[in-house]
Amino acid sequence: KQRIIAIDGPAASGKSTVAREAAKRLNCVYVDSGAFYRGVTWKMLREGVNTKNPLAVLPVLLKSKWKFEVRDRAVFFSIDGVEPGEALRDKDVREAVSDIAAMPAVRKFVVSNLRKLKKLGSLAMEGRDIGSVVFPKTPYKFYLDANPEERAKRRHAELIARGETEKAQEVMESLERRDKKDSTRKAAPLKIADGAYVIDTSEYDVEGVARVLLGRISD
Ligand code: CDP
Repeated sequence: KQRIIAIDGPAASGKSTVAREAAKRLNCVYVDSGAFYRGVTWKMLREGVNTKNPLAVLPVLLKSKWKFEVRDRAVFFSIDGVEPGEALRDKDVREAVSDIAAMPAVRKFVVSNLRKLKKLGSLAMEGRDIGSVVFPKTPYKFYLDANPEERAKRRHAELIARGETEKAQEVMESLERRDKKDSTRKAAPLKIADGAYVIDTSEYDVEGVARVLLGRISD
């Protein structure tokens, strides 16, 4: 049976960890849709394109060649022959990604590529609009949330582990800026999709969230 598991929520709400865990246990391919928006952003920065100008972004995006591949049950991509890898999480990318993701033409491009991944079989896909826009018909929709302090704490720990030196306060402000842009934009704003099951991850560990989620996918 093919299952599409949609896991949405704000930044650092625990989506990636839980989506990866669900993918492992239910034998799905894991897809990080945020990586696609980060990929577009990374490409624009590399080409020196102004990431606030849709008219500059679009032609470069449409000319770029994306190749997708599954490794270790997760989707990876290269753009014009280069795999961005860890660079997707660099500071310049994360500061510009919400502007890029607000552009309707970028969303159209990403959404159509995400939908094509259905041919890979069962998917555990995380993002902001997976249950509302990309796969609105799937019965398996989740919305993960956590309070802003907890999310900032988690993201700060991730950044420190990567060797970055951002202060906790800066991380909090940056997450707030991104959440605000993501939830107030016109194109597919972050919201709880119809029929999504909401899990507040502030008080749970990964195992706890995974248990709740898997408990709702019993068929
Ligand atoms: O890991 P984190 O939650 O911080 O970010 P992400 O999932 O990598 O997403 C990065 C950015 O991409 C978000 O801030 C959104 O602007 C955008 N995004 C989106 O618009 N729609 C999605 N389905 C996924 C990400």
